[in-house]
Amino acid sequence: MQRLTNRRILLGITGGIAAYKSAELTRLLKGAGADVRIVMTPAATEFITPLTLQALSGHPVHLQLLDPEAEAGMGHIELAKWADLILVAPASADFIARFSAGMGDDLLTTLCLASDAPICLAPAMNQAMWRDPRTQANAHKLTSQGVTLLGPGVGAQACGDTGPGRMLEPEELAELAAEQFEHTVLSGKRVVITAGPTREPLDPVRYISNHSSGKMGYALAEAAADAGASVKLVSGPVMLPVPPRVECVQVETAEEMLAATLDGIEACDLFIAAAAVADYRPVAIAEHKIKKGSEEIMELRLVKNPDIVATVAGLETGRPFTVGFAAETRDVIDYARSKLARKRLDLIVANDVSNPEIGFNSDDNAVTLVSAEGETGLPQTSKRQLARQLIEQIAQHYLKSTS
Ligand code: PMT
Repeated sequence: MQRLTNRRILLGITGGIAAYKSAELTRLLKGAGADVRIVMTPAATEFITPLTLQALSGHPVHLQLLDPEAEAGMGHIELAKWADLILVAPASADFIARFSAGMGDDLLTTLCLASDAPICLAPAMNQAMWRDPRTQANAHKLTSQGVTLLGPGVGAQACGDTGPGRMLEPEELAELAAEQFEHTVLSGKRVVITAGPTREPLDPVRYISNHSSGKMGYALAEAAADAGASVKLVSGPVMLPVPPRVECVQVETAEEMLAATLDGIEACDLFIAAAAVADYRPVAIAEHKIKKGSEEIMELRLVKNPDIVATVAGLETGRPFTVGFAAETRDVIDYARSKLARKRLDLIVANDVSNPEIGFNSDDNAVTLVSAEGETGLPQTSKRQLARQLIEQIAQHYLKSTS
């Protein structure tokens, strides 16, 4: 079920008595970390209320194809593109017939036609309807076109008959839905990543900061989410969109970044500190704008900020596997190694920021991943590509540490 973390499942519910089981299925899919959006046919609403499914999925239920309000939120084509998997449970004989005929006469069939996502159907109907040669022909046609049938099961039916046509139980359907996804390197893992700069205010209009754009940290968050992790990104002020499937907490100062990072850290498996945190902040923040005086030299008094990555690495309970970055302009590997030891990190990413093509605010980067045992160089490439390589490498080290 770990494979469901962060996956987007569009659950279609058609009219049948088994629709009541879709409530439990929604709960199980959500509990396994999937984002579930629900589409109901009009007949399905006769068996279970959209309100129940809205409460369980946490999202409004989609009911009609031509609903201007719903289209203004997530339109049907957007919803079709959004899904990683379409699961129709229960799938009635009528739905199977309409879908196999290629009809798009309601929202659910339209979505199935418009989506590139894999489609799974959990048939549920009276045993005679399932055995009917027309239903069988429709089901065979769909499977020959790549649609997966989950069930039906055999047994006692609500109408009193016994035979094939029962919808599989929600637990079984959730397991089978999980099997539709490949096991990825961080499936089911929780990752916290810091990104961007911090801003340390001097007065209401000025602050101390640095040139971090957040590109590296955001790329890591995207790569970790794509690798199956549930990702919390703690971000300083940047101009980047939050990657899909990533929860983002926006902060300004180092102290806020520390608080947001520590919030729930005990539940996290991996922590990656890519942020460029200001080492110092002004001792006092002036209440009003500091006025220019007659003096030629102005002195600022600064106080050390908390070290976020060292705080996390020093946790006595619930310490995650902790990865730091080292932004250096000379003796890059030596300084990175000393930070690895001093901050008690598991890994450190040595980043030579003396080269403007890599490092702060550039689109590319090149780094060396340093562990107690050795070094792995990752040559210059885009930050997005490098993030994928880094996540793969970090995950391998992490998995080795837990085995
Ligand atoms: O954001 P971009 O423009 O894409 O640029 C990417 C980057 C250059 C910022 C990034 O790749 C990088 O190197 N980040 C670390 C920057 C940094 O502050 O390095 P440092 O050597 O000063 O800090 C060492 C480690 O301690 C870092 O993991 C840092 O996040 C962490 N730290 C530092 C100070 C502090 N008070 N708390 C911390 O957690």
